[in-house]
Amino acid sequence: MTATFRLLRRAADSPVSAQEPPPVAAAIARKSQLRGFVPTGTLAFRKRVLRYGQLLGQNVRKNSRRQTMTTVLNTATNAATYDLLVAARRHRTQAEIAHHLGVDVRTVRRWELRQSSPPPYAAHALQTLLPLQLPLSRGGDFTFIDLFAGIGGTRLAFEDAGGRCVFTSEWDTYAQKTYLENFSCDHDIAGDIRTTSEHEIPDHDVLVAGFPCQPFSIAGVSKKKSLGRMHGFEDETQGTLFFDIARIIAHKRPRAFLLENVKNLKTHDRGRTFDVIRRTLVDDLGYDLHVRVVDGAAWVPQHRERILLVGFRDAVAFDWDLVKAGTGEAPTLRAILHRTDGSEPRLAWDGNRFFDHETRQVPAKYTLTSHLWRYLQEYKRKHAAAGNGFGFGLVEPDSVARTLSARYFKDGSEILVSQGVNLPPRRLTPRECARLMGFPDSFRIPVSDTRAYKQFGNSVVVPAIRAVAFLMKPFVCRSAIGEPELAMLAA
Ligand SMILES: C[S@@+](CC[C@H](N)C(=O)[O-])C[C@H]1O[C@@H](n2cnc3c(N)ncnc32)[C@H](O)[C@@H]1O
Repeated sequence: MTATFRLLRRAADSPVSAQEPPPVAAAIARKSQLRGFVPTGTLAFRKRVLRYGQLLGQNVRKNSRRQTMTTVLNTATNAATYDLLVAARRHRTQAEIAHHLGVDVRTVRRWELRQSSPPPYAAHALQTLLPLQLPLSRGGDFTFIDLFAGIGGTRLAFEDAGGRCVFTSEWDTYAQKTYLENFSCDHDIAGDIRTTSEHEIPDHDVLVAGFPCQPFSIAGVSKKKSLGRMHGFEDETQGTLFFDIARIIAHKRPRAFLLENVKNLKTHDRGRTFDVIRRTLVDDLGYDLHVRVVDGAAWVPQHRERILLVGFRDAVAFDWDLVKAGTGEAPTLRAILHRTDGSEPRLAWDGNRFFDHETRQVPAKYTLTSHLWRYLQEYKRKHAAAGNGFGFGLVEPDSVARTLSARYFKDGSEILVSQGVNLPPRRLTPRECARLMGFPDSFRIPVSDTRAYKQFGNSVVVPAIRAVAFLMKPFVCRSAIGEPELAMLAA
């Protein structure tokens, strides 16, 4: 008689409680991995086993043909496997999970609806679908929220600086997929920020947001003015995504924020957009604002000028000139292109998707068709004749690339890698784009090439943001630096 069997018999002999299984039954729950257990007792005993199964949430089934009882899972395993399924569903579709586990998609649906329980073997298989990440709360010297999060370039940078992300907003489901594949989130990703109440957002030290730039409608403002309404940020920025940032800052009053945008934000709508933003942050919300255009070329082989707006609730001695840029030597594309000399790292999660390790070549699909290559050359010739410099950008290992745009998937014309005279060039692969933005090779790319190009083209130069995050850290950190020190650091 096995130990489990003995326990079962004792449990079956004890009175059945409708509310709670007796401790002995809980012990069974821990022990039981019963398969094909043949109860030799009376009918009443068998019924009790079934009853306990229900009480414990066990999937105890009676196989009448074989006259056996099958306890498939114990409660703890059941709940843990279900939790793993829920976590995996944040990253994968039901069909993907079904494929991975070798089961029917309807089976996964039933598990999810708790109509049946996933078997124990699924636990391990589900675990392998989850991102291999550092423990949940990386960092914790300060907290931050990640608005317009994209694929989390900014989050990566602020986590490196010791921050812990407590809230994320991103409405694009494909970006969410990449984000969740790469970060262990202890919170769900909020969707449209315009419909997210500021009351739902947890307290935080830093707000970070790479928000899309939109013009502010002058007509709207004038109309409100003529109606005699108060002239504050609400009236001026209403209807824009910046308004949502402003209302969150107004309500949560974080110690600091970092807003990121294209360099043209300053000249957008003849400077009016930037002026409204500046006035809102400084005059209406009372923050100490530091603005700088930073070129990513100091860290990665790409010219990418972005305007960064750093604000502090209290005036502090923040100094842009102290931003530490890279290693001192501007990197070239050699650092990010796939290496054909045998030293290209093998990334298990990429396999041969972006680089064929057997032939040591970038797959042919990244090379432009002769037709497209002819078209791009003709286009450039026409524009050169008209006296302007539009057209493709051909790069070599010693070059620095132009700005990677979210439209790169179209023809890749802004950055084409030369493959020799008279040969059509190739696009960068998504992995090379990731490197061009300063993402580590451990970053997973779980979406199609088209989506990946868009996502990296929309993202930030991670090491540039990391340098800024480190620069902000002394002024936002709770533990490392106290209020008195902060006061001393204040200008
Ligand atoms: C410029 S990207 C920011 C990318 C991000 N910094 C990164 O590292 O990937 C702007 C992001 O804002 C998202 N977005 C735009 N409007 C939004 C909204 N109303 N609510 C939530 N996210 C939004 C877009 O889907 C896009 O991913």
